[in-house]
Amino acid sequence: MAEYVGAVDQGTTSTRFMIFNHDGEEVARHQLEHEQIMPKAGWVEHDPIEIWERTSSVIQTALSRANLTAADLAAVGITNQRETTVVWNKNTGRPYYNAIVWQDTRTDKIASRLERDGHGDLIRQRAGLPPATYFSGGKIQWLLENVDGLRADAEKGDALFGTTDCWVTWNLTGGTEGGRHVTDVTNASRTMLMDLETCQWDDELLALFNIPKAMLPEIVSSSDAEAYGVTDPHGPFHAEVPITGVLGDQQAATVGQVCFAPGEAKNTYGTGNFMLLNTGEELVRSNAGLLTTVCYRFGNNKPIYALEGSIAVTGSAVQWLRDQLGIISGAADTERLAGQVEDNGGVYFVPAFSGLFAPYWRSDARGVIVGLSRYNTNAHLARATLEAICYQSKDVADAMEKDSGVKLEVLKVDGGVTANNLCMQIQSDILGVEVSRPVLAETTCLGAAYAAGLAVGFWKDTDELRANWHEGNRWKPEWNDEQRAEGYVGWRKAIDRTLNWVDV
Ligand code: G3P
Repeated sequence: MAEYVGAVDQGTTSTRFMIFNHDGEEVARHQLEHEQIMPKAGWVEHDPIEIWERTSSVIQTALSRANLTAADLAAVGITNQRETTVVWNKNTGRPYYNAIVWQDTRTDKIASRLERDGHGDLIRQRAGLPPATYFSGGKIQWLLENVDGLRADAEKGDALFGTTDCWVTWNLTGGTEGGRHVTDVTNASRTMLMDLETCQWDDELLALFNIPKAMLPEIVSSSDAEAYGVTDPHGPFHAEVPITGVLGDQQAATVGQVCFAPGEAKNTYGTGNFMLLNTGEELVRSNAGLLTTVCYRFGNNKPIYALEGSIAVTGSAVQWLRDQLGIISGAADTERLAGQVEDNGGVYFVPAFSGLFAPYWRSDARGVIVGLSRYNTNAHLARATLEAICYQSKDVADAMEKDSGVKLEVLKVDGGVTANNLCMQIQSDILGVEVSRPVLAETTCLGAAYAAGLAVGFWKDTDELRANWHEGNRWKPEWNDEQRAEGYVGWRKAIDRTLNWVDV
């Protein structure tokens, strides 16, 4: 009897494979980064072949580190950076172009034209999303308009579209030798092409972007014993293992944090931040700048929906301090550096590198650092960066309260940045609520493993998963209301300075 479940997390900056036991504990992992290709300001690409090679390699290394083989795995789950768009030829397996990453803003004119031409409300109503560069629809349209011969191949059904879950699934299940072209409903809900109520591709939305249906994958449940098939024995598992769970990474983290009841929420701190609130079977439309999205669909059950506040740049602002400014040598340095000062010294940093996402949705915004005086040092900038992560989350949490009427009591957090204790303390101070991190902060991979394991009976039900959740750390607010209010006024002034910066 196989005692473990594995999960691939194909993320924005790296790909990892993790193996879990029945208690939801980590048994092994391996992780590899891939190149961030930035050919022009605002453009962000990944090489899909590199992503597939990295995926194969992390699977093999993690298995061998744990001294396990595919036979020890009851099932495999896949989770992924969402929206990032890959288009490839089904006969050669070659991508037509690099993957266009969710942060890429090259489609700003496509997005603003949709709003100007009066299609915004249809997209918001049908897909639950505002027209924005973030989602896949505009990226596919851009590829069809800019890559020679692609439209003809797409119409014939030779060119396939997929987010990276779909690309990895297709390759794992045999690629050109019969790979499955399927995606899960959570990923499909991020394309601007899916009707949130029927959970199927919508002809009217496809027509807005002029996208041939033949290039789209079949939409299936997030946890399903049959739909995804089995891994190809010639691939990195060297055996047939059922792939039975697929979820976009933020939905996977919501599952990993066992937010199964309406009103339960989590915030994941990765390249960006993503707060999701489970709204159950009810599809809640946002009036406050949030997205409505599918949270998960298990088997033939009804889909469960979520409200989402997506923030494009949080952990990647820390990387920017490291890679572009060179003021830190690693992410952990921000804690040390920011800890040298009592407060931000009047400095606010809004890292609107890809415009502003939730709740503002302003693609004309660009980043600012304001409030500088001669007194300020690198330490203030490091502190302002951590505060930016937390203020952006406050904007989203406020919007969530407005939309749902649910008052946040405790914020469940996860993701790489939550290792930064100072940042989590600042988060609690800025929100005025307690912040709680589970023992295992890698809830994204865990959530994909849970979806896969549920489908094959490795875990019986969600109650069994709840029992696996254990609190690791808790932070309590230390600021008083006055400090909180004053700090937030400065943040909102800084946000105002980012707007109307570029013409779209
Ligand atoms: O929507 C984008 C999101 O899925 C990316 O997540 O963790 O790769 O930054 P992450």
